[in-house]
Amino acid sequence: MFSSRTKEISPFVVMQLLQRAQEYERSGKTVVHLEVGEPDFQTAEPIVKAAHAAIDAGRTKYTSASGISDLRQRISAYYQSMGVAVSPNRIMVTSGASGGLTLLAGLLLDPSDRLLITDPGYPCNEVFARLVGAIPKPIAVSAEHRFQPTLASFQAAWCEQTRGALLASPSNPTGTMLSAQDLGDMAAFAQSRQGFLILDEIYQGLHHNEPEYVSGLAVTDDIYVLNSFSKFFGMTGWRLGWVVVPEHAIEPITSLAQNLFISPSAPAQYAALAAFDDDAMTVHKARQQAFVSRARLLSRGLEALGFKIPVAPDGAFYLYVDICRTGMNSTDFCWRLIDEYQVAVTPGADFGTHQAGSHVRFAYTTDEQSIALGLERIGKALQAWGAGQ
Ligand SMILES: Cc1ncc(COP(=O)(O)O)c(C=O)c1O
Repeated sequence: MFSSRTKEISPFVVMQLLQRAQEYERSGKTVVHLEVGEPDFQTAEPIVKAAHAAIDAGRTKYTSASGISDLRQRISAYYQSMGVAVSPNRIMVTSGASGGLTLLAGLLLDPSDRLLITDPGYPCNEVFARLVGAIPKPIAVSAEHRFQPTLASFQAAWCEQTRGALLASPSNPTGTMLSAQDLGDMAAFAQSRQGFLILDEIYQGLHHNEPEYVSGLAVTDDIYVLNSFSKFFGMTGWRLGWVVVPEHAIEPITSLAQNLFISPSAPAQYAALAAFDDDAMTVHKARQQAFVSRARLLSRGLEALGFKIPVAPDGAFYLYVDICRTGMNSTDFCWRLIDEYQVAVTPGADFGTHQAGSHVRFAYTTDEQSIALGLERIGKALQAWGAGQ
């Protein structure tokens, strides 16, 4: 009755865990949420005000498929402020990075083409490939290479049918960045094979230390870049993002966007104009600092409990934690933690298969008090389960 590609999509364990968490909350229990990939902060006030003003002014009609030119210029100026020159013409405003991924899959992949992705990686990546009949080909990435492909593993995974690769920096679920050298080399290799490289920079701006590069576009122009207003700008529910494409891709991606989406949300675009104003940027940067301090609190707490954090993240709001010391499989660990101690975390199985049974993603998208409570409960769980030091 439904398409075969629909049947290939497996539901996330985290959604089932979330459902269980909500049942506990309905029964009056306090759940510590360390599973959600969404900032807990409300959208910054100046953006909300700009949205009200836009709606009052009747800015509720379709816009150009590539987005309003003011916003494309603001995004271009944002890159300029970081020392990267990107013409507004190369910027397409999209319905979240998800809309961007849909467009890029439609633009770049034909049925049976292979798309290199990472394992672990953002779980929806493979679905965008499958939607257009392409075949995702995971590259297993491990702690020894900071959970990113090496040039050698990238080249080895590239086969005759490979059309391109989709990598993320910083990545979900590990928070690590690709080195500038590897990024440049991989982009050059893809080019030499007449292929493409898409760099997902949705966590750009949420770095813990000075990043090696502010955007992959500062390293090489030969890439497609995905970004979003969801994370650093705190606008998940507004469904707005953007892609930066090479000049020669502007026309075909615009036609695709016209047909698939007509336009991104108009009120969200007018609201997003305010996201780059100084007052909003001050809010975003304060939140970025809050994530840095939460990361420190959570990683120190988990390490004190004997967990191994194989690689300190460069950014985003996740820790990818090795839970071997518990002697448990990560999915069992997550279910027991929610059922017995009401702490929600995401098992490695949601991000791939490579070492998935021994890893769990902790998202620090909740306040420090809740993180401390979560750590206390995890400590009690380990003691009760005899999974001691
Ligand atoms: C790596 C990565 N890419 C893309 C997305 C999609 O984000 P959105 O559609 O909200 O912009 C997410 C969401 O969590 C993500 O983690």
